[in-house]
Amino acid sequence: MVISHQPVMVDEVISYLITIPEGIYVDGTVGTGGHSLEIFKRIAPKGELICLDIDRSSIRLAKERLSPFGERVKIIKESYVALDKVLKRIGIDKVNGILLDLGVSSYQLESSGRGFSFIKDEPLDMRMDEDRGATATELINNISIEKLQELLWVYAQERWAKLIARAIVEERRKGPIASSRQLAILIETTIPARYRPRKRHPATKTFQALRIAVNRELQNIADFLEECPSLLVKGGRAVVISYHSLEDRLVKQAFHQRGKDNISPRKLPVFPDTSPPLMKALRKKGLRPSQAEINVNPRARSAIMRAAERT
Ligand SMILES: C[S@@+](CC[C@H](N)C(=O)[O-])C[C@H]1O[C@@H](n2cnc3c(N)ncnc32)[C@H](O)[C@@H]1O
Repeated sequence: MVISHQPVMVDEVISYLITIPEGIYVDGTVGTGGHSLEIFKRIAPKGELICLDIDRSSIRLAKERLSPFGERVKIIKESYVALDKVLKRIGIDKVNGILLDLGVSSYQLESSGRGFSFIKDEPLDMRMDEDRGATATELINNISIEKLQELLWVYAQERWAKLIARAIVEERRKGPIASSRQLAILIETTIPARYRPRKRHPATKTFQALRIAVNRELQNIADFLEECPSLLVKGGRAVVISYHSLEDRLVKQAFHQRGKDNISPRKLPVFPDTSPPLMKALRKKGLRPSQAEINVNPRARSAIMRAAERT
């Protein structure tokens, strides 16, 4: 099996995530298992690792890669939003650390055949979980022009949102837009030549916005961040790697706001203390990958990592 995905900021993840090697850790977005492999090396032989992903094919690849580690690694097809239910099902109350490495994997972009990339000609599906929800084809062929424009603006700040939304609605009158190449060419020819970005494909933002919408990516992150403190032991860590500012903003707000609330002198103690557990950021600023890492793995260039501890 050839794994094209290179895990991002591995040393940084390990140093913030693992507090005790005999603990229980969760990789909430296992992908093809790059981070999990490194985490497991550091927690073996006593630690345990629970790996989740909603992508069936990624789960299969992760199982092949991590199966030599036996019972101490559990690989489950489930959303990280349902982590509380997964833990209950396997009889675990709380864990020592949770990693989320957000975004799309190289495997999904290059080999899944689901239209994540504008470079390939594939059915425009874009679902990470093929067992659930509407495809990108269903979304763009049925959404109203106003909602489409809003989606492109809110999820990708696409300055040509209005023009692109109009072009998509006109094109779909001739027949459904069903392939990644068809959509990429449509966008390329819609944006006036002199305004086309030089360093990235003109369809980059549209593809990003559709992927976020199809997979409910921001809602999932927000739901997880809400639940996260109650899934960690005291002193347990959450580490999240984001790849665009919308994701990072949610993580930053959750980690910093909660930490501040917790030490606010104005907050009087309540007895018995029924307030929910809180997270405290371990670093003021998000951590970026080194230039050396970006040189060997260009996908890392937009990564930003944040870590917080359950207080
Ligand atoms: C950047 S990749 C992770 C790569 C992984 N860290 C590695 O080293 O191979 C992101 C993964 O998150 C998965 N994913 C997206 N949303 C998810 C969700 N709600 N629950 C679980 N996994 C999810 C995707 O299917 C994808 O495999």
